[in-house]
Amino acid sequence: MGFRKDFLWGGATAANQCEGGYNEGGRGLANVDVVPIGEDRFPVIAGKKKMFDFDDEHFYPAKEAIDMYHHWKEDIKLFAEMGFKTYRLSLGWSRIFPQGDETEPNEEGLKFYEDIFKECKKYGIEPLVTITHFDCPMHLVEKYGAWRSRELVGFYENLCNVIFNRYKGLVKYWLTFNEINMILHAPFMGAGLYFEEGDNVEQVKYQAAHHELVASAIATKIAHEVDPENQVGCMLAAGSYYPYTPKPEDVWAGRQEERENYFFIDVQSRGEYPAYALKEMARKGIKVKMEEGDKELLKAHTVDFISFSYYSSRVATTDPELLEQTAGNIFASVKNPYLEASEWGWQIDPLGLRITMNDLYDRYQKPLFIVENGLGAVDTPDENGYVEDDYRIDYLSKHVEAMRDAVDQDGVDLLGYTTWGCIDLVSAGTGEMKKRYGFIYVDRDNQGNGTLKRSKKKSFDWYKKVIATNGEDLSN
Ligand code: BG6
Repeated sequence: MGFRKDFLWGGATAANQCEGGYNEGGRGLANVDVVPIGEDRFPVIAGKKKMFDFDDEHFYPAKEAIDMYHHWKEDIKLFAEMGFKTYRLSLGWSRIFPQGDETEPNEEGLKFYEDIFKECKKYGIEPLVTITHFDCPMHLVEKYGAWRSRELVGFYENLCNVIFNRYKGLVKYWLTFNEINMILHAPFMGAGLYFEEGDNVEQVKYQAAHHELVASAIATKIAHEVDPENQVGCMLAAGSYYPYTPKPEDVWAGRQEERENYFFIDVQSRGEYPAYALKEMARKGIKVKMEEGDKELLKAHTVDFISFSYYSSRVATTDPELLEQTAGNIFASVKNPYLEASEWGWQIDPLGLRITMNDLYDRYQKPLFIVENGLGAVDTPDENGYVEDDYRIDYLSKHVEAMRDAVDQDGVDLLGYTTWGCIDLVSAGTGEMKKRYGFIYVDRDNQGNGTLKRSKKKSFDWYKKVIATNGEDLSN
């Protein structure tokens, strides 16, 4: 009983939240660079001015982030010390293709990741690579309108051809788009999409989503052709919906919300637009333009496994008063009165992870991979940078227990688990450094002050023990 022998324990990061070095090694500018900390972080959603470059009024945390660009050896060594079997990281697209539409890649960018993968292999760590984690080269945003343009599919295909060939034998596990459903909720930060006066926003989003879905199928095709060993996954921002009451309307509202998210991975996993989505699009007057061969591509190149992030369950209601009170999450959800919440209002629900895993496994019958889970919290280090983060250990142990139940009791096939932000990094949602997830503390604050020194938190040794016992010993 318990997790499989080759269970992939590890941690996850994303290029834009940890690398920094935004203008080094020939890297081009990306959408994720020009989003500042603070209330202007989502300018397009807020309908504020477009921010396609830096200005003097704002602080841009991704520019330096935690400077993993220069600290990666030290960081991987620490991951290895914890016993990581896998390390999930993402490629900076604009490091490899600075503009995005070149035919030839930037060798320095390619080499940067090759060195990282080799370093991982040195320690027996299997890289798990997200091809795009929210990022899109700014040149593609400005010249083509990012994913609203079909041309992006070709540029992404070019990127895939280059990386699958270059990293053959070094990388086996790939994710095509991080939290692909995020395009609906954070279009600029999540996919470089912005809207002009008069745009039919829904139409633009779903057309862009179609382009990503086709690109994802093409990536899966190339990955399998280049190396049959390659395993490709989709990636969903998951969290099952509970109805606020047993009122059938609330249950139905939850179903609708879930489908909005499932839509993406239904296509990636089953290979076709589901009937409910076609009906909904027709009702809303959304006409997704497909090219000849798209349907066949989607059908022929479905993903090998389903990966997802899980932070919380969500609640659906039809009560207008309750709808007013959102839980501080980008997935505006009603507060669940039975759950506690983090300092950022994210509700904590370990059983919800088991429920979500079962929902996904029942639906797809493909192996699952939990590629993000964790607690964003304020840490208070002592003079040596040591943090007694019992709250994090508590959160993680309860979630690991729930996922063990899903495996042991329910028979879910789970490939691995990578906690989010295994080393402190910049928050995607807020741009803050003080929302920390790591086992490793990084000395840097919201304004970019600090030595960038790394130090182990209490949870570092805890996770080391969890991995060493293959999830048997979760005690603090
Ligand atoms: C996921 C993203 O949505 O949640 C990560 O894939 C992100 O990039 C994580 O960092 C946690 O969110 P936040 O806003 O606390 O950083």
